[in-house]
Amino acid sequence: MTHVSVAKDSVPAADELVVLSSVNKHFGALHVLQDIDLTITRGEVLVVIGPSGSGKSTLCRTINRLETIDSGSITIDGKALPAEGKALARLRADVGMVFQSFNLFAHKTVLENVTLGQLKVRRTDKKAAEKKARELLDRVGVASQADKYPAQLSGGQQQRVAIARALAMGPKVMLFDEPTSALDPEMINEVLEVMQQLARDGMTMVVVTHEMGFARSAANRVVFMADGRIVEEATPDQFFSNPRSDRAKDFLSKILHH
Ligand SMILES: Nc1ncnc2c1ncn2[C@@H]1O[C@H](COP(=O)(O)OP(=O)(O)OP(=O)(O)O)[C@@H](O)[C@H]1O
Ligand SMILES: [Mg+2]
Repeated sequence: MTHVSVAKDSVPAADELVVLSSVNKHFGALHVLQDIDLTITRGEVLVVIGPSGSGKSTLCRTINRLETIDSGSITIDGKALPAEGKALARLRADVGMVFQSFNLFAHKTVLENVTLGQLKVRRTDKKAAEKKARELLDRVGVASQADKYPAQLSGGQQQRVAIARALAMGPKVMLFDEPTSALDPEMINEVLEVMQQLARDGMTMVVVTHEMGFARSAANRVVFMADGRIVEEATPDQFFSNPRSDRAKDFLSKILHH
């Protein structure tokens, strides 16, 4: 296994955007992230897969500091993650996150959902924020839904609004944690297509997913996690045709044959 590790005082290479070095995290006695070294370069699409409980969500959540870490370091664009306050709010804007559950504000319209962060965190003026929101809603194919409330939309539409909301902040990297797992089958593709387009447009993305078709076609690299460790890193071709570890072989045989 080749892991790039970066000493704390070294200057990151220009194409390194997110760097995790020796990251450890416990939940009580559970060592949920174990010595994670992971570098995500600009424009890269990294797919994270692994069995339930392996630490995939926790990994994502540490990258925008929804979870703190016990040791090690995480930098975004060469800067350590801020601990709190305005700097943390800006970090969260730089690191867009889309969850399995859509997490839209239920009592705000679609348009308001996509303008709110721009107004509050980015201090964009209202007219510009609405213009940008409408452009993004158009880009994800829900422009006609702008004045509705989330509950009036299908799951696939809500998830596309959630993507637009994250994009409205002008993030440097987008994290997706099983964005299609809560969707009815017929809505999965419309969300994956938006993500595919985002990948083609050069967005840096970390995607936790069980959608192997997406992993094969959009990922530059696959990371396989088990028991809080990165067990394997490979190109999608290498990983799917020739997984090296028994854990990965076992996992793939289960998900590809059900
Ligand atoms: N807030 C928490 N407190 C205590 N334990 C937690 C907490 N969050 C997660 N865990 C535990 O940490 C481990 C890793 O959880 P995590 O959600 O990161 O796994 P995952 O790989 O995303 O799993 P899944 O595929 O089911 O989403 C699990 O054993 C989980 O029960
Ligand atoms: Mg998870």
